[in-house]
Amino acid sequence: MKILAIETSCDDTAVALLEIKKNKIKILADTIVSQAKIHEKYGGVFPMKAKMAHAKNLVPALLKVLSDYNIKGTEFPLGNLVSKSKIDRVKKILEREPELFDAVEKHLLYISPPEIDRIAVTYGPGLEPALWVGINFAKALSILWNVPVVPVNHMRGHFLAPLAESKTIKFPALGLLISGGHTELILAKSPASYKLLGTTRDDACGEAYDKVARILDLPYPGGPHIARLAAEGRKSKVESRNEFKLPRPMIHTKNLEFSFAGLKTAVLYLVRKVESTRLPSPERSKSGQGGWKVEQKEKENIAREFEEAVKDVLVVKTGKALEVNKVKTLVVGGGVSANAYIMKNLEKLALKFDVKFLGSSPALATDNAVMIGVAGYFARPSPLSKIKATGNLPIET
Ligand code: KG4
Ligand code: ZN
Repeated sequence: MKILAIETSCDDTAVALLEIKKNKIKILADTIVSQAKIHEKYGGVFPMKAKMAHAKNLVPALLKVLSDYNIKGTEFPLGNLVSKSKIDRVKKILEREPELFDAVEKHLLYISPPEIDRIAVTYGPGLEPALWVGINFAKALSILWNVPVVPVNHMRGHFLAPLAESKTIKFPALGLLISGGHTELILAKSPASYKLLGTTRDDACGEAYDKVARILDLPYPGGPHIARLAAEGRKSKVESRNEFKLPRPMIHTKNLEFSFAGLKTAVLYLVRKVESTRLPSPERSKSGQGGWKVEQKEKENIAREFEEAVKDVLVVKTGKALEVNKVKTLVVGGGVSANAYIMKNLEKLALKFDVKFLGSSPALATDNAVMIGVAGYFARPSPLSKIKATGNLPIET
């Protein structure tokens, strides 16, 4: 089965082409257009800007994937084969994305339709304006190429991503999904059956990384920058080990719920406290150390303690989930699972419980379309009129 996958739930426009034969997954082509530069100045994702960027990026991303897979397409242009009524339907579907319709009309009527069996597209959870662009694009392609559309849950994509790297998930499996928008512990009985065990009451784990990065004047998305600082902090001498102490919110509660907002606020107060004890020094300003701001070494130690707090909470809660749920595999997915230190500690936990540990390489841990294609393999096609962007889509559906 060949699957074309489309992901636009947040700030990455991603398209991939997969081939799945007897559960063996081959990535035929894969591309991601990041919007990080656009959202950097807001310190987070600006939904309407994301929507506009997706509308601009989708056709070029699709053309790149098709040409990487060698579908040049001028041989059998759809051109005259597409009836006016089809084009009218596509125009109606894309009426809110006229720029996208123009690009479809200009480019996609003149390539041969790729031989694919289905189009997988993320329909939630995520930013609804952004999700709609991907969904409408998938519907337009479905009409042009007579191919069914499979709506895909983004979080299931994060959970199933390791399958794209020839790894095997043994079921039942526990999933810890830690991304910019979500923090969830889930129980999976099969690739198509999920139960939510616990989630965050406020900020997501990656969101906390991004907000702390902002407090420390680091670029968006902040996760990788904080991770780098924290690693530097861990390398340095033991002397500053307890210089900064941050809370581990909800670590002792019996449930499997998380909370990260208080941790971020604690970082903010800590930074203010450090800065308030310091007189503005013109020398420091001149030397580029930022006046009375926290200094590099302090930043490293704050990042280290922050990451330590996140790691402690994730390890303890995942441990609690492993105590009460008999599983064969622990799968960790989502953008924060690109963090080597957190993964190392979760792997140790899995070893302690004698369960198989799985994650993805960093490129498949953060948002991508490959994981949507994989989840699309296990989901069912749906009539186009039933597919709607669902911002808070739960893992169960
Ligand atoms: O899964 P993802 O790409 O998008 C969502 O679905 O939200 O996750 C993005 C999040 C961002 O908050 C980013 O800062 C975080 O993942 N992230 C990391 C690392 N790489 C990305 N957090 C910690 N350490 C990293 N190395
Ligand atoms: Zn994601």
